[in-house]
Amino acid sequence: MSEIKQKIEELRDKIWYHSRKYHLESNPEISDFEYDKLFEKLQDLEEKYPEQITEDSPTQRVAPIPLSEFTRQEHKVPMLSIENTYSTEELQEFDERVKRLLKKTEPIEYLVEPKIDGAAISIWYENGKLSQALTRGDGRWGELVTQNVRTIQSLPLKLLSDQAQISSLLEVRGEIYLSHKEFQRINEMRCASGEATFANPRNSAAGTLKLLDPSIVSERKLDFLAHSLGYAEGLSAQTQEEVLKTFSKYGIPVNPNGIKAPSIEVVIKTCQEWEEKRNSLPYDIDGMVVKVNRMDWQAQMGSTSRAPRWAVAYKFTQEEVMTRLREIHVQVGKGGTLTPVAILDPVHLAGTVVKRASLHNYDDIKRKGIYQGDWVTITKAGEIIPQVLRAHPEKRTGEEIAILEPTTCPACHSEVKKDDNGVYLRCTNQECAGGFKARLKFFASRQGMEIQGLGEKLIEQLVDTGLVTDFVDLYKLTFDDLENLERMGKKSAHNFIENIKQSKKKSADKVIFALGIRHVGRRAATIFAQNFSTMEDFCQASIDELEDIDEIGPVMALSVFDFFHSGPGMNIIEGLKEAGVEMEMLLPTTREEGSHFFSEKSVVLTGTLTHFTREELKEKLEALGTEVKSSISKNTDYLIAGEKAGSKLKKAQSLSITIIEEDELLQRLVTKEEKQD
Ligand code: IVH
Repeated sequence: MSEIKQKIEELRDKIWYHSRKYHLESNPEISDFEYDKLFEKLQDLEEKYPEQITEDSPTQRVAPIPLSEFTRQEHKVPMLSIENTYSTEELQEFDERVKRLLKKTEPIEYLVEPKIDGAAISIWYENGKLSQALTRGDGRWGELVTQNVRTIQSLPLKLLSDQAQISSLLEVRGEIYLSHKEFQRINEMRCASGEATFANPRNSAAGTLKLLDPSIVSERKLDFLAHSLGYAEGLSAQTQEEVLKTFSKYGIPVNPNGIKAPSIEVVIKTCQEWEEKRNSLPYDIDGMVVKVNRMDWQAQMGSTSRAPRWAVAYKFTQEEVMTRLREIHVQVGKGGTLTPVAILDPVHLAGTVVKRASLHNYDDIKRKGIYQGDWVTITKAGEIIPQVLRAHPEKRTGEEIAILEPTTCPACHSEVKKDDNGVYLRCTNQECAGGFKARLKFFASRQGMEIQGLGEKLIEQLVDTGLVTDFVDLYKLTFDDLENLERMGKKSAHNFIENIKQSKKKSADKVIFALGIRHVGRRAATIFAQNFSTMEDFCQASIDELEDIDEIGPVMALSVFDFFHSGPGMNIIEGLKEAGVEMEMLLPTTREEGSHFFSEKSVVLTGTLTHFTREELKEKLEALGTEVKSSISKNTDYLIAGEKAGSKLKKAQSLSITIIEEDELLQRLVTKEEKQD
């Protein structure tokens, strides 16, 4: 074997090994930076010796490799459940039990925390680096979802070690959740693209966590809050309060709403207060968790096989009201899905007047046995979206009407069909005006082309009069076209033409998002706009080319390819270009965390900088995965030296540590936005 061939094969083996470690076992042995270096080396060699390229070379199928299934793993310490209570009496009983078990008569100190309604997770840090994340599963065995958990922006991949000694092996437990805002955004997108909406943020978070393709996970902004310690080596905390404080020092997000209560009376008061203001948080809570604060007492009390004896959950009662269901409206989504919506007699519920409620799909209606005209109980899922829980057949008068699945689309009267999983009804007409109206609304939305004034009413008019049959038609509208529409004065027509003109300036990322390609959210749209030099290149890209982009998975790649090779997506870019839409591509990103010049480096700051305060620079560097230390040691990689640097500069020089001055620092830190300015 030639020397080159051998070298290339060794490199490939090495890359595959580390790729498996990272992507399949979620247990990387080298940094992303080192991995990238190996990869670039192989790419260079293959470029030089193209005859050596084989189909199975890692360069032919770039990571991230989505998983084909999740690996199950046993929890080191079982993830128990928690006992529920529903009344103040039960809380009193809990306190009495605690005192009995601890043989105490004096008041017990508790920590009271909101009980987040999300998905429980166990996250492991080895020597300060995130190594694994496991779902709760059945409490004994969970599934490794590390790739997905790594997409959570608020979760450090590397613990801060400035103010606290890092535990060598640490298991942090907490809740992965979606904020109300994000939940709503995801459901709106799903509804628009004809996918099943999630019933509540908890299902949505749990479902997202179990997606095999991390590029779709990273589109949904999952969040995390730590609430307990699973296992720790080298960490000493006397109380639950201290555990949370230590997590905070490590940079791990913890709920700031935990309250120390010196007695059960204060616990009860706190629980009642929170029940009143439960809607004030931006995410769902379904109760409060009450924990004995002292860790030694927790250990002394132990657990049953099901739950710890030192904690209890106080569950809130869910707000429900009854009202009449008057009619069913059928909504047509962006991808042609028909969703039944209940039109209700207006009723007050959890702070708002509710007039409509989601019914998800016709199977749901059948399962709940709902008739038109029924009295129904409704509640708010995720505290925001009203849902019909159940019907009350005992209140029927005989005038109620069965709700039938439509056989034709309410917008275009074409045939409707059940989709592959047999649950959702879809209009079969690719050119259905209903689906097109939904796509147009999405196209004009704030995150897309930002066409002000293009609301539902105007969309109805433009589509129904035949003035707009595709996105490009919008840019052909004339003043006369508009002025002739009902309720459209000269001034509004003029303004609207101006708004359309303004939207032509949108950059490629916005245009890509606005097209409403299934699975492509804001983040993926930005990545595509950064990775192609023209929109033509993007829409002609092969599935492999799309999949080769970092962070883009196969489901997303296929969806993009399909969009540009069939139906309304086929000539769309050409049309928009001719209409004068600019679609300027974005500059490639500066290297992301793990591959930046500063990532995983140990840095010390000294002297006065003119462009940042110390704190700002520290934050910036830490966001890149840099460890910012206060004193120089032989492990320091760089000293960032501003004006009037003193003894630290001398020490760095004596240890031959690389010194970076402000000019170089700026060069190294420069981001795309700053380059554009
Ligand atoms: S402490 C075993 N604290 O509630 C006791 N749990 O049924 C350790 N949860 O899925 C858990 N917020 O993930 C604790 N502040 C909080 C919590 C919390 C939500 C979840 C937990 C588990 C469930 C317990």
